[in-house]
This record gives sequence, C-alpha cells and structure tokens, in this order.
Amino acid sequence: MLNVAVLGSGRGSNFQAILSALQAGTLPGVRICLVLSNNSTAGILEIARANDIPALHLSQRQFADESAFAAAMLEAFRCAGVDFLVLAGYMKRVPALIVQTFPRRIINIHPALLPHFGGAGMYGMHVHEAVIAARSAFSGATVHFVDEEYDHGSTVLQKEIPVLPDDTPATLASRVLEVEHALLPEALRRLASAPDAHT
Ligand code: GRF
Repeated sequence: MLNVAVLGSGRGSNFQAILSALQAGTLPGVRICLVLSNNSTAGILEIARANDIPALHLSQRQFADESAFAAAMLEAFRCAGVDFLVLAGYMKRVPALIVQTFPRRIINIHPALLPHFGGAGMYGMHVHEAVIAARSAFSGATVHFVDEEYDHGSTVLQKEIPVLPDDTPATLASRVLEVEHALLPEALRRLASAPDAHT
C-alpha cells in the first residue's frame, strides 16, 4: 500500500484526476492520506476537504527558516503515516531534508518533455511559451522522481503530443493538461503495483 501525500499550490486538477482514478477503482494499493499546500486558498485544499481527506496549509513563511519548515513538514507526514509524495502543481522547492527522507519516493508532474523545458523558471505558462517560441514540433508531459535539482530526477513516464501550427501557449497548455490527467494516475498505478520500483 502506498500512503500518499499530494502537494499542490493551485486549482488541483491533477489531484482531482488521481481521486477520479481511485473512485473508478483503477488505483489499487494507493491511499491518499494527506493533501498539503503552501497556499491557504488553493483549490487543491478545497477538493481534499470536500472528499474528507486531511488538508493542511503549510508554508515556509510560517517558520523562521527552511529547517524549521522542513521539520514541520516531516512531522505532518509522520502523523499521517505518509510514505510516498506526489507533487501535483506544487510551485515551491521541496526542502532537501524531505528529498533525503523519501529517496525515489517523491514524484512530480511537469508539463513538457523533460529534460527539455525544465529547470528554474520553467513553470506554468512559461513552459508552454518557451515551447512555442522554440518552434518545437512536440510537447507533452513527464512524471519524474524528485531529487535536489529542479525537474531533474529520472523519468517514470512520459507522453508526447504534437504542437499544432496554430497553437498558442493557452491551447497547448490545455491539451498538455489532458495528458497530465492521464499520465499522473498511470504513473502512480505502476509504482503502486511494482513495490520495488521505487526503492
Ligand atoms: C500542471 O500543469 C502541472 O504540470 C504544473 O502545474 C499545473 C498544475 O495544475 N506543474 P493543477 O493544480 O493540477 O490543476
């Protein structure tokens, strides 16, 4: 059983996709035990509360420094029995202590084909603007393990789609988002059904 915490900063549509897969019975061996956001008004927290899943607002701003923040995060994970983390639109860097505590047990979804269009500053609409500016023929989404560098850990799953001639950053973002909503639950399903894959 993977006891999963989902971390996000915004509307939570990727989290909703995981919930829908759980409700459809296509994610055996996965339990969501906590949702955490750095943003108190994030949709992802509302979705969690509406589904009776513990929802926690935790931001570095509430703490004196990163180590106090990381310690509070770890304590929240310990209390909830978390052993796996999913970053679903989490816009903050995960403290190094957390990455070290959960080696190959944290995944992130990125809205492009890593290793391209990743790294510092490559988030949200910036990613799709960069893909279009570079006239890339393809974009897509990548689920990868999280290490201490942005968008750097090894790939779990990737799916590409063509960039259409009349795509704008917004139209590309919405087609990539559809891919994300399929890819993230699928990655979780594979990791939960191959327990050694993430050790
Ligand atoms: C997604 O595009 C994700 O790849 C990116 O942020 C967006 C989050 O959307 N990192 P949502 O909050 O899951 O709706």
